[in-house]
Amino acid sequence: MEIKTKKFKRDLLNWYKNNKRDYSWRETNDPWKILLLETISQQTQLDRADTYFKLFIKEFPNPETMASSSLKKVLILWSGLGYNNRAKRLYESSKILCETGFDELYPNFEVLPGVGPYTNNAILSFAYHKKVITRDVNVDRVFSRYFGVDEVKTFIHNNKKTLLDRVSSRDLNQAIMDFGSMVCKSKNPLCSSCVLENNCKKYIVKIKRPQEAFSGSNRELRGDLLKLLLSNNKLSLKKIEKALAVDREKLLKATTTLEKDGLITIKKNNLVEINS
Ligand code: ADE
Repeated sequence: MEIKTKKFKRDLLNWYKNNKRDYSWRETNDPWKILLLETISQQTQLDRADTYFKLFIKEFPNPETMASSSLKKVLILWSGLGYNNRAKRLYESSKILCETGFDELYPNFEVLPGVGPYTNNAILSFAYHKKVITRDVNVDRVFSRYFGVDEVKTFIHNNKKTLLDRVSSRDLNQAIMDFGSMVCKSKNPLCSSCVLENNCKKYIVKIKRPQEAFSGSNRELRGDLLKLLLSNNKLSLKKIEKALAVDREKLLKATTTLEKDGLITIKKNNLVEINS
C-alpha cells in the first residue's frame, strides 16, 4: 500500500499546485481565523463562506472583539447563513477563548462549543502544522474511492505515517478538500479528466442520504422567526403568528427549540425576545 499512498500524494499535490482555489484564509496560521472559517463554511459553499469570513474578520479580528460584542450583533452578521446555533456556539467560544486561549487549550479544542473532531483537526493542521488528516464527508469519499476502502478511519490510522510523511498536512488536507469538491464530486465525478484516475480503485458507493425538506420545516420557521426578531426587539406570539402566517402549534415548536438553544427568551406575557 505504501507505493500507492506515495503516488496518491504526489499526483494530488501536483494537481493542487495548478488548481488550488485562492482564498484569503488559505495561508493564515491564526487559530481564531481558522475557527471562524470552518464554522462559517459548514453546509455553505466556499465562495459564499469566503464573503462572510471577510465580514466577520473585519468586525471580529480576535475572540475579544466578539466576546465584548453581543449575540444579537453576531446573529445580524450571520444573517443568510442559516443554522443560527453555529453563530451562538461561536459567540460562546469567543468568551471561553478570552479566558483560555488556543495555546492553552492545545491540542484539545473540542471543549469549545461547536468544535468536533473535524474542526479540531483543522485547527491542529492549519494553525499548528500537526500531522493530522481533516476527515469530513468529502475527504472520506476521496479516500474510499481511490483506495477502495469502506473504513476510512482505520485506513488513515494504518497509513498515517506514509500519508503525512514529507508533506505539509495543511497542503495535503486542503488539496484533498479541493479535489473532492472540484473533481471527485459526490454526484457525477469527473473521472474522465481526473489525473489520479490511473491508480484509482473507482470504488463508487452510492449513498442515499434522506434530506429533511426545508420548505415548511421547523428549521425554516426558526430562521424566519429569528430574522423577524432581529429587526424587532420584542414581539408577541400573536404578532409573530400573523407576520409569519403560521399556526400556534408550529410556532411553539420553533420558539421552544430556539429558547432551548439559548437564542431567544419567551417572557411571561408571551413576548418573545432575542437574547443579547
Ligand atoms: N472546507 C472547509 N474548510 C476548507 C478548507 N480549508 N479548504 C477547502 N475546503 C474547505
